[in-house]
Amino acid sequence: MKAQTAVAVTADAVREELERRLDAAMNQADPYDQPLWDAMRYSLMAGGKRIRPVLLMLTGLSLGAKAEDLWPFAMGLEMIHTYSLIHDDLPAMDNDDYRRGRLTSHKVFGEAGAILAGDGLLTLAFETMGRGVTEQLDRGQAEKAARGMRCLSYMAQCAGCKGMVAGQIADLKSEGRSIGLEELTYIEFNKTSRLLMAALKGGAYLAGATDEVLEKMEKAGGWVGQAFQIEDDVLDVEGTLEELGKAPMSDDKAQKATFTSLYGLEKAKETAAHLTEEALQELSCLSGEEGEMVRTLVRSLIGRKK
Ligand code: IPE
Ligand code: IPE
Ligand code: MG
Ligand code: MG
Ligand code: MG
Repeated sequence: MKAQTAVAVTADAVREELERRLDAAMNQADPYDQPLWDAMRYSLMAGGKRIRPVLLMLTGLSLGAKAEDLWPFAMGLEMIHTYSLIHDDLPAMDNDDYRRGRLTSHKVFGEAGAILAGDGLLTLAFETMGRGVTEQLDRGQAEKAARGMRCLSYMAQCAGCKGMVAGQIADLKSEGRSIGLEELTYIEFNKTSRLLMAALKGGAYLAGATDEVLEKMEKAGGWVGQAFQIEDDVLDVEGTLEELGKAPMSDDKAQKATFTSLYGLEKAKETAAHLTEEALQELSCLSGEEGEMVRTLVRSLIGRKK
């Protein structure tokens, strides 16, 4: 993929290049830690949709960043997301057997193997992003490195105890209880929107965007994430194992509070479409073909089949 040329990249080209880079990042095993890398690779390279890193790349490019400055963060974000899925599937959490069209990590590598594969991916994510920043410093690119540090720090916030991890504990504590809209919104916003905010606002940080644009990307990430999670809740009811690559009716089995269990399928679909419109308004500030690709990708998440 070319960096910042007159010809815009395509989302597919970004995805292909990302696959190549993630694959290369999984070739770092020593003889004694091979089982760890096997488990990390098994989940990372199982064919996820790659929505978060593609959104980060396209948003950053649309705002004028160079691809080479975005890649470490796109890779890091997908590693963080994959770790969250491995841990989400553990018996102590959602206890699921299938993910990305394969048996879940703990089914293949055991619980300890899955916990450590998640730990490995999470820490490799920050190593990868940190290396991106130090390489910029080594090249004397202090301004770019400062942008990278802002992005890295925001990624940590989004992923951790003020973000996705907080959403996950609230999600688990909701099982078997009847909850209201405020608590449900807290759960979906944190467990899912935060990593979409990391994608859109992260890309904007790396491009050195203005405060006004940063704020729009944060808002858009919030709306996109909530719509994305509501659609995921709909798919849990309407999808099949073949289509989703994960077992449907998992939320029902675990007595999870979801948007569909609270308000029904029709209201859920309507709300997801409405939230997407809100997001598209914020995203209208993204220019050029890459900006249009961001909006097309966000629209395509509504009514998706997996
Ligand atoms: C699944 O995310 C977890 C949710 C936040 C709903 P994705 O639907 O993006 O999963 P992959 O990456 O395509 O497997
Ligand atoms: C998961 O939400 C969000 C994460 C942070 C992983 P779900 O539990 O609904 O995701 P799936 O349906 O298992 O992919
Ligand atoms: Mg879950
Ligand atoms: Mg789950
Ligand atoms: Mg789900």
